[in-house]
Amino acid sequence: MKKLATLLALLLMLGIFIQACSNNSSDPNATALAKESEAKADSLKACSPIMDPNNPKPMALMMRQMAASADSMKARILRGETLDSLKHPFIRFYAAEPTDPNVLEANFFEKARLFQAAYKELFNHPKEQKKYYNLTIEACVNCHKDYCSGPLKRIRKLPISEL
Ligand code: HEC
Repeated sequence: MKKLATLLALLLMLGIFIQACSNNSSDPNATALAKESEAKADSLKACSPIMDPNNPKPMALMMRQMAASADSMKARILRGETLDSLKHPFIRFYAAEPTDPNVLEANFFEKARLFQAAYKELFNHPKEQKKYYNLTIEACVNCHKDYCSGPLKRIRKLPISEL
């Protein structure tokens, strides 16, 4: 008797479960939500912190260095120091192996080129470091919007706001 009751309860739960699933797929809101999270998963695909935080690829390691370097450039600018390009050498991240090899497409290399140009300009303008530093960070953001949105929250804390 007890077994039968358990079986019935299980069947009831299964019924509710199936209904919930079929309801979801016919609900346009739920479909839109599913699409959204799919798109999000796509842009996170290129990001190692989410994929495998303990076994980062060379490009991911370089990105961590670049973020640390940007942190210290920001601190130096705020202290009124002139940035030394020898202390902040350009890191050729685009030549390194990424977590997701699919990122290595024309748009990625174009964004990398624009970032490198902005980076070079920063050291060409010691009198306007704040402006050119912020433009450099903007170039980080411009690539991350397309390839790896996970770190955007961190990158968006890097610009120096107007005083
Ligand atoms: C041309 C594109 C591009 C530019 C420019 C770029 N990034 Fe990235 N970034 C990526 C990609 C792709 C990854 C994922 C790398 C991987 O997982 O191998 C990444 C990963 C990261 C990560 C996560 C690293 C980890 O695994 O912990 C951080 C943080 C980051 N970037 C910060 C920055 C900062 C700061 C800048 C600018 C100074 C910058 N990025 C410029 C494409 C870019």
